Amino acid sequence: MPTNTSMKVPLLDLRAQYETIRPEVDAAVKGVMESCHFIGGPEVSALEQEVARYSQTAHAVACASGTDAILVALWALGIGPGDEVISPTYTFFATAGTIANNGATPVFVDVDPKTFNIDLHRLEAAITPRTKAVVAVSLFGQCADIPAIKAICDKHQLYLIEDAAQSIGSEWEGRRSGSMCDFGTFSFFPSKNLGGVGDGGMIVTQNADLAEKARLLCNHGAKPKYHHAIVGTNSRLDALQAAVLRVKLRHLDRWSEQRAKNAALYHQLFEGSKVGRPYHDPRTRHIYNQYVIRATKRDELKKHLAERNIGCEVYYPVPLHLQKCFAHLGGRPGDMPVSEAAANETLALPIYPELTEEMIRYTAQTVREFVDNA
Ligand SMILES: Cc1ncc(COP(=O)(O)O)c(C=O)c1O
Repeated sequence: MPTNTSMKVPLLDLRAQYETIRPEVDAAVKGVMESCHFIGGPEVSALEQEVARYSQTAHAVACASGTDAILVALWALGIGPGDEVISPTYTFFATAGTIANNGATPVFVDVDPKTFNIDLHRLEAAITPRTKAVVAVSLFGQCADIPAIKAICDKHQLYLIEDAAQSIGSEWEGRRSGSMCDFGTFSFFPSKNLGGVGDGGMIVTQNADLAEKARLLCNHGAKPKYHHAIVGTNSRLDALQAAVLRVKLRHLDRWSEQRAKNAALYHQLFEGSKVGRPYHDPRTRHIYNQYVIRATKRDELKKHLAERNIGCEVYYPVPLHLQKCFAHLGGRPGDMPVSEAAANETLALPIYPELTEEMIRYTAQTVREFVDNA
């Protein structure tokens, strides 16, 4: 076993990131404070334009979180009571919580065992006459096969939303995550590759009418101010978030490349061991929001790493079809074997860009020795 007792490897170190960009971030924050323009305004509009350009989309609408981005996208498409919306079962809760919050019924589908993105064959089999839309997720930073999913959606006249909360900048054959469907949705939660200093989100689309609808819904449906043709809500991004995100967007590609380099080093260090390495589909640009391995004694490994000051996390321990709040939908253990196995075996290791090679080597060696001797 490695004996390096002084080494600490957190799962994520946002302070280390801040240290590399402190003058730029501090100047951006100061600019907002001095402008006293706190909600909407030029910083938010500029961020919308920059994210639209970055994600190869015509329109971007800022909102309060990645959750709201999905919620508003479904709402703008008119999804509601009586409608079924297909979602992978192995994802963060918001993917399907938003479907339920729109009054629709989530229909869960198992995922592909290699990429953890939605299984295309099972997706098509889950379509019924009540299906209105699919929310596909590009999990852990690897773009799902959106063109193939879109072809299925087009065949059955379904809307497609890509929950790209974890995948900004990821690509499928050169096309950016979020750009190939009716709506793409991003999260700026601080742990994302492009993370703010609080909550934030963005909705992107190629369709001007849908963008306009989403923008209205995020601002109480008001146009002009105090005149409401439709009922919306308050889901806005504040200028402080936008200003910091604009600084970080300038560094995003460098950070995502460094994450990919860190993943390549882990890949090499796990060569020949029993550690299940993440699969990178060569058709994608993977931005490694998470680096997720598989191990049979996962919970013991997690404890072992914690005792050696190595941060790690389980994403996600309970697939959505087995969540208590969705029990009325009739999901049973064994229904979605790929997702259930993933929930028992996967573990995310530190992958953030500021990791040193020494930290990666220490982490990989500690994981490898435990797994191979288990
Ligand atoms: C796949 C996925 N969807 C949706 C969300 C929701 O984003 P937010 O936390 O910004 O509401 C997240 C964030 O963790 C996510 O990972």
